[in-house]
Amino acid sequence: MATTHIDAEPADIAPTVLLPGDPLRARHIAQTVLDDARQVTARRNMLGFTGRWQGQPVTVMGGGMGIPSTAIYVTELARTYGVRRIIRIGTCGGLGAANLGDVLLAQSASTDSRFNRMQFGGHDLSAGADFGLLRAAVDAAAGMGLPVRVAPVFSSDCFYDGAPDLLDHLRRHHIAGIEMEAAGLYGLAMREGFAALAILTVSDQLDRGQHMPAEQREQGLERMARLALASAASA
Ligand code: HPA
Repeated sequence: MATTHIDAEPADIAPTVLLPGDPLRARHIAQTVLDDARQVTARRNMLGFTGRWQGQPVTVMGGGMGIPSTAIYVTELARTYGVRRIIRIGTCGGLGAANLGDVLLAQSASTDSRFNRMQFGGHDLSAGADFGLLRAAVDAAAGMGLPVRVAPVFSSDCFYDGAPDLLDHLRRHHIAGIEMEAAGLYGLAMREGFAALAILTVSDQLDRGQHMPAEQREQGLERMARLALASAASA
């Protein structure tokens, strides 16, 4: 049985899902990192693939950009497909000491989105990563010799023209990265009862006006996929 936005059978989706924003990145990861990957959904070209990693089934699927798109796929993955863990792998803008290429494990995600408030009686939800997955990611990164920073991030609804003083507030609160999805993913994980983590490579350094070349972004993606898979396998 398919959902409105995912045309896979329930058995086609694995309990562990890697969620890049871009469906073509999902295909790239499936082709380069998974064994025996096959396409399981393509509705609206939001491609998803299921294969195996070290013998265990894994799905990698695009989630789009921003909380509303991500939330559609994540809600259907949780409610209809019963997924147990979703690891977002993506990029973020870095602030302060977060340098281009750094890998952030998002411990918490503040936001200017109303998405979580709408489900939480108008109150501020403390949107946090699953501790087991976060700890597994820290340990897996150490095992891979990959330096990571466990850090608070901010999920914004505006890529362009957000609140003019937003970055000052983020710096004041020592928030290391800004992206557009983690807070929604974490809020949904808390409500729907699955484990979530966002692993983010700093692709833009906002204090220093630096941007990562496309080739380096691709390498960062594969590195995050391998870290996500190792984390999920040991969480
Ligand atoms: N802002 C929001 N999302 C992002 C950024 C950014 O600067 N860089 C990568 N994703």
